[in-house]
Amino acid sequence: MSRESESGLPIEPVYGPDALEGWDAAEKLGEPGSYPFTRGVYPTMYTGRPWTMRQYAGFGTAVESNARYKQLIANGTMGLSVAFDLPTQMGHDSDAPIAHGEVGKVGVAIDSVEDMRVLFDGIPLDKVSTSMTINAPAALLLLMYQLVGEEQGVSADKLTGTIQNDVLKEYIARGTYIFPPKPSLRLIADIFKYCKAEIPKWNTISISGYHMAEAGASPAQEIAFTLADGIEYVRTAVAAGMDVDDFAPRLSFFFVARTTILEEVAKFRAARRIWARVMKEEFGAKNPKSMMLRFHTQTAGVQLTAQQPEVNLVRVAVQGLAAVLGGTQSLHTNSFDEAIALPTDKSARLALRTQQVLAYETDVTATVDPFAGSYVIEKMTDEVEEAALELMGKVEELGGAVNAIERGFQKNEIERNAYRIAQETDSGERVVVGVNRFQLDEEEPYEPLRVDPAIEAQQAERLAKLRAERDQQAVDAALDALRKAAEGDDNVLYPMKDALRARATVGEVCNALREVWGTYVPSDAF
Ligand code: 3HC
Repeated sequence: MSRESESGLPIEPVYGPDALEGWDAAEKLGEPGSYPFTRGVYPTMYTGRPWTMRQYAGFGTAVESNARYKQLIANGTMGLSVAFDLPTQMGHDSDAPIAHGEVGKVGVAIDSVEDMRVLFDGIPLDKVSTSMTINAPAALLLLMYQLVGEEQGVSADKLTGTIQNDVLKEYIARGTYIFPPKPSLRLIADIFKYCKAEIPKWNTISISGYHMAEAGASPAQEIAFTLADGIEYVRTAVAAGMDVDDFAPRLSFFFVARTTILEEVAKFRAARRIWARVMKEEFGAKNPKSMMLRFHTQTAGVQLTAQQPEVNLVRVAVQGLAAVLGGTQSLHTNSFDEAIALPTDKSARLALRTQQVLAYETDVTATVDPFAGSYVIEKMTDEVEEAALELMGKVEELGGAVNAIERGFQKNEIERNAYRIAQETDSGERVVVGVNRFQLDEEEPYEPLRVDPAIEAQQAERLAKLRAERDQQAVDAALDALRKAAEGDDNVLYPMKDALRARATVGEVCNALREVWGTYVPSDAF
């Protein structure tokens, strides 16, 4: 079966059951830093520079989170990673009725550029790379980051970091979507274009498998559905008139690291190889950077236990090792107490120290892709690759990731695997130390960190002050301009930046887009 690709190239099937024919072993393995990047995206990997130790953090108001970031930097973290609270992630202001009880809870509350300035107070934005785990309102947070950079005297072309900006996986798992798929994909294409023109070093998207894995996806499902989402984004940007080499080098990915080290190393290597081939053969990418699957990894939160929580230190070390042996570019190691509550300062420091032991006390950084040539790893890499390609073929048969999502295909497949895992755990076939084997008669008490509920009132006061002091006419005019751009084809990020600079709030900007684009209602197809 040969098809015309988006770039007009005739291609043999890049996925599906017969996609692997004709690839000899040497060609599939390749060299580190060369196509198909099986062995890693850089020739020297960690022998040149360790992975970025990038601890996901954020809670309460911008003041509390700013203090945590400064602590992490003092403890040696190499990149920032911002967790936002649910109201921010869903595009609501902290004083919106729907936000009650969630303000500052699972991440930091950001309502306006004023909060963003506090969040990065004393942190020079030309000296750090910042990841922001934000999806539907990703454009707003990126623009507020740019506005704070401007206030610090840092030009946009010096800013480095990533926005997650991967709404397709939100429809499949996690759920922090706002708009329907079509306007969401348009917004993502606008972000790609805006960053190409204004913030060229910014990684425009972190196409994520982590949350699907946490929802129960197998390694093959995790990479298959993630890469299928990636293909949808690339097709969208190409259809919006961009050349693939104009944006593909700034795509990035995000996967989980489970305790099953060997299978995880195979998974990462297979993912790099599949993506390289898709970009070269389906989209006709010429720039090797367009074919490199660069990724961030987080250790598996779902494998943390509330029972005997200190045992999680061991799990996280093993998972971190899997990510490093698999060639991750950036890593977050979970705190051992996260199954109970937000990490304390001490548990957050221990999580980072775990990475530092891996990087500076072990010898895993001394060799590139140490598992290369291992019979079992190469075999498992082929097996995960084959299973993932078959699943990608099924998504393609359904018309691509969005159509498959609307039929509930990915969600259905993941739930089936989640059920299998639950059955194996309940039967004891799948051992969870401290939970279904080696339990304690009585758990020892643990005092978790709690977020002060007064945070919500503080944020509401800040919002009232901001609205009283801003030029309301300028805000209204900017929001009108944003609505007009959303109704037409102009890039919405330019009027959006004007609105945010005029102190429009996250909720006001997202509500203006809700008025034009509506909100997504999940299909009940399955
Ligand atoms: N040889 C040559 N150059 C090298 C090198 C080597 N060995 N190692 C690194 N470099 C260079 C790179 O080329 C890069 O330069 P460039 O930007 O000019 O190309 C620079 O050094 C930085 O290296 P990386 O880009 O590899 O590392 P970063 O850390 O900067 O970026 C990333 C990694 C994966 C590309 C990026 O997208 C990233 O940081 N992602 C993080 C995403 C994240 O933190 N997500 C958190 C999610 S938490 C969540 O979802 C919620 C919860 O529920 C799970």
